[in-house]
Amino acid sequence: MKKIISVVGARPNFMKVAPLHKAFQNYSDTIEHIICHTGQHYDEKMSKIFFEDLELPKPDYYLGVGSGSHAEQTAKVMIEFEKILIDEKPDLIIVVGDVNSTIACSLTAAKLHIKVAHVEAGLRSGDMKMPEEINRILTDSISDYLFVTEKSGLNNLEHEGVDSEKVFLTGNVMIDSLVNYLPKADSSSIHADMNISKGEYVLVTLHRPSNVDILEQAIKLKDLLNTIAEERKIIFPMHPRTLQNWRNFNLIDMLNSNIIITEPIGYIDFLSLTKNAELILTDSGGIQEESTYLGVQCITLRTSTERPITVEVGTNQLLGNDLGKAQDAALNVLNGQLKKGQIPELWDGNSAKRIADIISEKI
Ligand code: UD1
Repeated sequence: MKKIISVVGARPNFMKVAPLHKAFQNYSDTIEHIICHTGQHYDEKMSKIFFEDLELPKPDYYLGVGSGSHAEQTAKVMIEFEKILIDEKPDLIIVVGDVNSTIACSLTAAKLHIKVAHVEAGLRSGDMKMPEEINRILTDSISDYLFVTEKSGLNNLEHEGVDSEKVFLTGNVMIDSLVNYLPKADSSSIHADMNISKGEYVLVTLHRPSNVDILEQAIKLKDLLNTIAEERKIIFPMHPRTLQNWRNFNLIDMLNSNIIITEPIGYIDFLSLTKNAELILTDSGGIQEESTYLGVQCITLRTSTERPITVEVGTNQLLGNDLGKAQDAALNVLNGQLKKGQIPELWDGNSAKRIADIISEKI
């Protein structure tokens, strides 16, 4: 019997590990699949609700690490995760995405000579000011198996000299969750609960430090949202980091009353809001991909994206450099000027199965 530990830490990890967990159930005779939650995200609305929505079992390990500076958070995860690795002696650990838990756990395992698989490898924004970019590069450099979502990832890894035998284009596990839960999302009551009409609102998410931690940028974004709110209702589920900062900046009271601010929203209801939005404004990585899959118009309020396929073939427009341009593009979409898009290769709901098949052969 082989043993694998998959790591989750922050909100964008849960929908990636859920389909992997399910895929490894097909190998339950030969592989034991264990889930470790670092506790990087811990609020009910940032963590527990996702376990329920995604039908994930209670994690086998919960490290309870919580918030802190980058060094504190990363170090705490490493100290706690090392104890589990020494105890469990897994044959492989799986990390997903690019959060601090991803690099912390892969680094801990690599130093103990335990093999590491990175799911969502090879993505690069080219912006070393993003903590996630540092996490991505370092995790890829110590991984034994690199599972890639889009072709740019293959090119980036080749360019960095990663042995192509370790690299597999397997598609997007987050899209596996989307495909699986779309029928459930279609029966969500969130629109009735919020008294909004499908197809007639703008959905906003913002949480990147470069957007929400800096006063001047936060003011510009507040102005942009207020202009758009003159045309349509805006639904803005607020990340705790954004709420905290924008409260300190006294920006919350300055938002147009057509902007509905809510707490973070669970997976199924948020998927329903995404699918039925007329337009999405975001700085998230995952939402760029989900909107591309669903063919929903998306404007990304960042200066770079590590997911270029969403711009090249999808419905995403990258317009964070110039918020005046972003405003014009948003108003154009609301006037019916839509960007056509297609679904990227292998984003078909079967990525986790491909990954489990490869791993079961290799370990
Ligand atoms: C982290 C990831 C980011 C990801 C995002 C999704 C890193 C470096 N960043 O950013 O890539 O896009 O998650 O949400 O790993 N907080 C709470 N409750 C929680 C979690 C956080 O109130 O359950 C607050 C705390 O004040 C905390 C702050 O949010 O200090 C930031 O949390 P943290 O996990 O450090 O980073 P995120 O901004 O969430």
